[in-house]
Amino acid sequence: MTAELHTAGSGAEVIDFASRRRTPTVEEVPEPELITGRRRKLPTLPAGVGGVVLAAPKNCVCRIGRGTKKGGDTWGHWVREKGHRVERAKKTLWWAAGTLVVLAWTAPFGIIAAAVVGLTAAVVAGAPAKTKKSAAASPVEAGGGVAPPAPVDGTSTVEAGASMPTESVEAPTPPTDATTVPVQAPSVPRGGRVPVGPPSTSPLVGRTTAVDVWTEPVRWGIDAYGAPVETVLPGNPGLLTGGVSGSGKSVASHQMLCHVALDPHAQLWLVDGKMLELVHYEDIAHRRLGGPDLDAFGEMVDDLDAEIQRRTRAIAGKTVKITGRNWQQYDAPFILLHVDEIQLFTLQGKEGKELAQRLALLASVCRALGVFISVATQRPEDSVVPPLLCNNLVLKLGMRTEDAAQSNTVLGNGMAGRGYRSDRFTGDQKGAAYFRGEVGDPTALTTGFLRIPDEDEGGPDHVRDIVAHATELRREAETLPVADNRPPRADRLEVASDALDAMEEAGVDRMSRVDLAAAMGWDEEELRSALTRAGVCSPHPLAGVSGRGWYRKDLAALMR
Ligand SMILES: Nc1ncnc2c1ncn2[C@@H]1O[C@H](COP(=O)(O)OP(=O)(O)OP(=O)(O)O)[C@@H](O)[C@H]1O
Ligand SMILES: [Mg+2]
Repeated sequence: MTAELHTAGSGAEVIDFASRRRTPTVEEVPEPELITGRRRKLPTLPAGVGGVVLAAPKNCVCRIGRGTKKGGDTWGHWVREKGHRVERAKKTLWWAAGTLVVLAWTAPFGIIAAAVVGLTAAVVAGAPAKTKKSAAASPVEAGGGVAPPAPVDGTSTVEAGASMPTESVEAPTPPTDATTVPVQAPSVPRGGRVPVGPPSTSPLVGRTTAVDVWTEPVRWGIDAYGAPVETVLPGNPGLLTGGVSGSGKSVASHQMLCHVALDPHAQLWLVDGKMLELVHYEDIAHRRLGGPDLDAFGEMVDDLDAEIQRRTRAIAGKTVKITGRNWQQYDAPFILLHVDEIQLFTLQGKEGKELAQRLALLASVCRALGVFISVATQRPEDSVVPPLLCNNLVLKLGMRTEDAAQSNTVLGNGMAGRGYRSDRFTGDQKGAAYFRGEVGDPTALTTGFLRIPDEDEGGPDHVRDIVAHATELRREAETLPVADNRPPRADRLEVASDALDAMEEAGVDRMSRVDLAAAMGWDEEELRSALTRAGVCSPHPLAGVSGRGWYRKDLAALMR
């Protein structure tokens, strides 16, 4: 499966998605160069006796030149190393002073001897090493293949549509062709712009077949060498996604959610702190919480805990883990619990923190039980995502962060010191992320794009289209959630619309829960739970109003 990749200033190249290799075009194959004994060419000397006479001084001059350069390079390298400057100054002074004393004492013979020794050392150091211009000389000849090409700049584009894989995402196959060299990770950038992969459209766009979540990997994106970065979710305990607002967390999460949605047997349990991001999945999610309601989140965590315990008891003594082959036997379909903007829960005091702790403990035991926990946040900090939760969510997607500390919270302590800093992504690198798997170093990539138009924008809505297709698949498989003892969405929204009308009549943009219930003629507690069911956030403190309640915008957000 291949895609054409266009890079600025070079010809087209071909990405072989199946083998995760990238075959550069002829122009890109680097010039073979000698690894040792690099020679500077002097003008060719005339042939004959004159040439022979002149060759000796030429050779001598070359050797001295190379020797001097080599010594200078070594010296320069040592000096550049951290902490050597003061030491170097001291050493130089001692050597200079010592040499002068010895030379003055032994003049003139000492000076002659020193000159001879120095000249000999320069000639010996400058002698070119005898290298065969074969294996080591040329990376092209060495492996019969090509050297890893330079990372592709994120400004180039992968043409989606015709050339992107849309039918299915093939699991990567290990290299079988002995004549090619596997693509290696780019060197860790120590500063400046981090090279990431080219933008690409998610391969789920236009896909018509179902996904098997147990065997098919989620494709997170494309790395700097054009290779896809993928993971099979079952078997991993969880994912932590962190990055500032607008860095692309939701787009990245939608890739995973759509992937799971397209498996008609997999279950989505969604916690939508912002109430806006996950509405697309309303009809196919087995559990969905639309709003930062701590109690309702607590109930969902209770239910997940109960399910994990049931699965543990069901497989005890029979098998060690739930897989794609035995999940039906244990009635244990794959569950993805995704919490968007977890800070809206964990910053709600002690209870929020306790819930995060419980989630962390569940993540530590769920990997073998077909349960995957995913958490996303705009504020990857210890106060928001406790260290235990960070550690137990083993997969990491570090989008652009504010600083190195936030980057370390997502990618793991010490990663910034090793050069993996997601705060080095720039604002124009949309969807840029470091992905860190269970093993290995983080890989810089650009996530696959899924378009979700704003309200007043036209054009395709990829997530809506994929979910519509997922709904069909689930209808056929009879796995649509039987949540339809719930009133339809329009009915559920009626109460929010009535509340808005009540505020309008009173001519205010906020009302306490007590006043609103009185104005609508409802019982206070009934109103709270009806609004929660509709997806409105829990009542909260209001500026200039005593008691908790809602702003008009809390209700209006839902109506949009
Ligand atoms: N992989 C991508 N390729 C191209 N553009 C992208 C990509 N990911 C995100 N974007 C662009 O960035 C915008 C913001 O992305 P997104 O909504 O996912 O950010 P976010 O981190 O979830 O922000 P917030 O925290 O405010 O919800 C998107 O509307 C899209 O235009
Ligand atoms: Mg978002």
